[in-house]
Amino acid sequence: FLTGLALAPVAYAAGCSIRPSAPGSAAEASRPLPIPPLAASILGTDGVRRFTLRAQAGTTEMIQGKQTPTWGYSGSVLGPTVRARRDEKVAFTVTNDLPEPTSVHWHGMHLPAKFDGGPHQMIAPGATWAPTWTVRQQAATLWYHPHPHGATEKHVHRGLSGFFLIDDDASDALDLPKDYGVDDIPLVIQDRRFTAEGALDESDATDVGLLGDTIVTNGIADAHLPVITDRVRLRILNGSSGRLYQLAFGDGRAFQLIATDGGLLPEPVALTRIQLSPGERVELVVALQPGENVTLRSLPIADRAGIDRAGEFGFDDTFDILALRAAPTLRPSAALPATLIPMPALAAATTPPNRAFDLQWFMINNRRMDMNRIDMTVPVDTTEVWTVRNKDNWPHNFHVHDVQFQIVAVDGTPPPPALSGWKDTVYTAPGSTYTLAMHFADHTDPTYPYMYHCHLLHHEDQGMMGQFLVLAPGQRPAPAQMDMGSMGHG
Ligand code: C2O
Ligand code: CU
Repeated sequence: FLTGLALAPVAYAAGCSIRPSAPGSAAEASRPLPIPPLAASILGTDGVRRFTLRAQAGTTEMIQGKQTPTWGYSGSVLGPTVRARRDEKVAFTVTNDLPEPTSVHWHGMHLPAKFDGGPHQMIAPGATWAPTWTVRQQAATLWYHPHPHGATEKHVHRGLSGFFLIDDDASDALDLPKDYGVDDIPLVIQDRRFTAEGALDESDATDVGLLGDTIVTNGIADAHLPVITDRVRLRILNGSSGRLYQLAFGDGRAFQLIATDGGLLPEPVALTRIQLSPGERVELVVALQPGENVTLRSLPIADRAGIDRAGEFGFDDTFDILALRAAPTLRPSAALPATLIPMPALAAATTPPNRAFDLQWFMINNRRMDMNRIDMTVPVDTTEVWTVRNKDNWPHNFHVHDVQFQIVAVDGTPPPPALSGWKDTVYTAPGSTYTLAMHFADHTDPTYPYMYHCHLLHHEDQGMMGQFLVLAPGQRPAPAQMDMGSMGHG
């Protein structure tokens, strides 16, 4: 049990920032929330929707009056929102104009492994990568971000992240807020620390990676959202390296949770707070009264079971995330539908697990990531049940590429409603066991693996990641050997 060594006393990071809600006092500095533009696309006569993305360096006024060097896709920070429909074939031309290799991973997407954009699909500086696939999954809020092994935290921290929204007929038929940027708002929440000059401070890594003292939403600090409808849908991504958020409104009002990572829930769930770990998404709908101001905040993390040094991991911090400012008169929105999208159960709580994963001290099952090792193979067209156990007293989470999973049980009991929908990333509290069920539908490939890993990006970079192949009957693994020298790390 190596954890004892890992947790030798270290200086307590004096980094907690308390930013109490002070209505009005920040009004001067507040800027309207930037809405990422929708990515332009060209629909060819072949039915393929084509997008172009360029990873590039620039500067961004993250804090008013300061120019921060940042990285972005087709812009100085973040990236355009990609939007495609279920069953549509998409194609991308991704160019790397950065001074170092990167990759673009489509987080939450079911697609062939060779186009997954993980650490085996590096794009050299100046080079172009051209993935293409057919979208075969329900409407959802996904995202895209770099995945270079050992450097993912740095690349994401510098600003590389974008939304990928999937639409389908079933979600179109539901009367939900869906006017992009008006009452359907993408919101990526990140924490950053800045130097006196306004540069991103990449120096102060904790055991959960870079923890910032300033919240940036959609790339800027101190943002507000002008609200003109009486219901607003927020598609929220925790795009941070290692910080957990417990989201709630300043006055404690209830909101309706309508979707998790992989799409809409069977029915809306009324909540007053929800926790998001890095990589997770939720969609929620909140109602406002005319003229009202209400702040989306992050409260101290309630679920700190088993966490040592919770304060050092940022669990005590309180932040204002976004001020919502309702206009004096609001356009009426339809009442939420009582039912959304049904979800057939993949497994029962009693289904015996196929595999077990222990998370501990930068390792999964006592191994650190090796690009040249396939950790497991999965037969195609199977449903598997995995148990994932956090054996540390650190926070971790667990993300699986290629699939959306269902949380069948948490410590043997049914999950709470907020964890009952489609997920691709789940927070794993110390000492807890999560039982996940997932189906590996197609896309066999003996050469290119998919990843599973902790999505606290520092942990992922440290090697808390493994690789699996999805194989057709009779297919044998034939992994490509990676030249680690060219990966930019040892
Ligand atoms: Cu969001 Cu393997 O990543
Ligand atoms: Cu972790």
